[in-house]
Amino acid sequence: MVQKIIIDTDPGQDDAVAILLALASPELQVLGLVAVAGNVPLALTELNTRKVVELSGRTDVPVFAGCDRPLSRDLVTAEHVHGKTGLDGIDLPEPTLPLQAQHGVDFIVETLRAHDAGTVTLVPIGPLTNIAEAFRRAPDIIGRVQQIVLMGGAYFEVGNITPAAEFNIYVDPEAAAEVFASGVPLVVMPLDVTHKALTDRAWIEAMRALPGRCGPAVAGWTDFFERFDTAKYGSVGAPLHDPCTIAWLLHPDLFEGRHINVEIEVDGRWTTGMTVADWWRVSGRAPNALFLKDVDRDALFDMIHDRIARLP
Ligand code: BDR
Ligand code: CA
Repeated sequence: MVQKIIIDTDPGQDDAVAILLALASPELQVLGLVAVAGNVPLALTELNTRKVVELSGRTDVPVFAGCDRPLSRDLVTAEHVHGKTGLDGIDLPEPTLPLQAQHGVDFIVETLRAHDAGTVTLVPIGPLTNIAEAFRRAPDIIGRVQQIVLMGGAYFEVGNITPAAEFNIYVDPEAAAEVFASGVPLVVMPLDVTHKALTDRAWIEAMRALPGRCGPAVAGWTDFFERFDTAKYGSVGAPLHDPCTIAWLLHPDLFEGRHINVEIEVDGRWTTGMTVADWWRVSGRAPNALFLKDVDRDALFDMIHDRIARLP
């Protein structure tokens, strides 16, 4: 059966690969993409989303703009990671694909009401602002969401934007706290997994050698992305954080984790945005998330390669 999803995104080179992976996969029906402010401001994330969709040739998939700032904080961005445009690494033409007039949060609400309850999965790969705002505006949709498969947080790896917090959760911790408390089944792809999902030279060169335009685009993005991580962590390769969410939907058997309780720190002195993951099950609090920890890295990269190869 085809899995219906909405991708909520802030491209972002790794977001872009996630979007291509989803659009290349017939097991998934992408009902729409909603941009959120995150890696760069909303004006750029919605533009980048349209560029990526156009690159994929799937201009039948609508793109919406959601919230331009977190629920109750100033926006923190990550140009130092993703470049000035958010999608540095290759130049893509101005898209002809229009931005939908409807607000992205209204699209999420309307879509969840229009489809049978329990048949639409949300895939947020940026800050959780749009999802929390949709739940605030329309609490009736919360029980209709099949599951949320998100990239965010960390336990063993702790943080990448502060010593204690991962970027997507840190940017809008209030939104994250509301989503984690919503009761919707959560699948969480933290840095613990994504820092193992590192590109290598051979994979990037194989992408560059693909005959279409999408493979070389992925090579250009990951080349750019790699520079930052190599300088920061001394690691070889770029972490493909966000594609892990789509990969989990396609092949959950590639990942391992635990059903545990995860709470979001919203007012820590040093720890705001921390995902307090009860990995050792010491709190007695009820599990609210499948929190992943490991991935079969080589199988993941083989799959991404094979899927992107199907695109123009
Ligand atoms: C997350 O933050 C962004 O910079 C990436 O796109 C990813 O979603 C990793 O912390
Ligand atoms: Ca992202």
